[in-house]
Amino acid sequence: MSDRTPIIAGNWKMHRDHLEAIQLVQKLAYHLNEVDYEGQEVVVCPPFVALRSIQTLIQSDKLPIGLGAQNCHPEDEGAFTGEISVPMLARLDVSYVICGHSERRALFGETDADVAAKARAVQRHGLRPVLCVGEVKEEREAGRAVEVVVSQLRGSLDGLTIDDPDALVIAYEPVWAIGTGLTATPDDAQEMCATIRAELGERVGSQIAAAMRIQYGGSVKPGNIRQLMAQPDIDGALVGGASLSSEDFALIVGHRR
Ligand code: 13P
Repeated sequence: MSDRTPIIAGNWKMHRDHLEAIQLVQKLAYHLNEVDYEGQEVVVCPPFVALRSIQTLIQSDKLPIGLGAQNCHPEDEGAFTGEISVPMLARLDVSYVICGHSERRALFGETDADVAAKARAVQRHGLRPVLCVGEVKEEREAGRAVEVVVSQLRGSLDGLTIDDPDALVIAYEPVWAIGTGLTATPDDAQEMCATIRAELGERVGSQIAAAMRIQYGGSVKPGNIRQLMAQPDIDGALVGGASLSSEDFALIVGHRR
């Protein structure tokens, strides 16, 4: 067992309006026991428009649930119609910002340089990036998964300060496993997470890398969370579809019961 505090986060993507979001978090809190929060972090990443409502709910009910955003703009303010800045997120008690999710890379053209700029902005304001990397199916089949992930990691970490292992969370999300029901085998996920940790070691030193958290994401469900979490280099999960069900997400968070 490592002394890294696991982090289980739900990435809701573009699902749930703010009223549904409140209900989802209320139900999640109902399903979770005090012990489920002990020794691990539980985070929800709703759409921007639900952040304020959930912030209020977390505060008023004193819920030990953290708040994450799914994206941000790298600048603090300016003429960027439709964008949301990190200072705005900070005011909503957001602690984590997902940077470089594969959907943003593939559908919105985000490059490693864009991801790095966003992650730097997140750090500048004292929040933590959850930096996503992962290969597509063709790259894995061609035996290029490690090369692709290492290259994404290097590019996306450009200019980031990592003198504290808690400054950043990495999420390994093989693209072929996202929303497909295909999960990487625990062995494959472990192998890549160990590779990521070794690469982080090159960048920040092995001591800090050993204390950094690396999540796995891609069709994480109540039925596979235990095996994934049992892997020595997997320190949590970034959960998509299953985080939209309060029952399933509670089972995932409560996998140690
Ligand atoms: P699924 O859990 O739906 O596969 O999504 C994973 C993901 O993209 C989390 O960021």
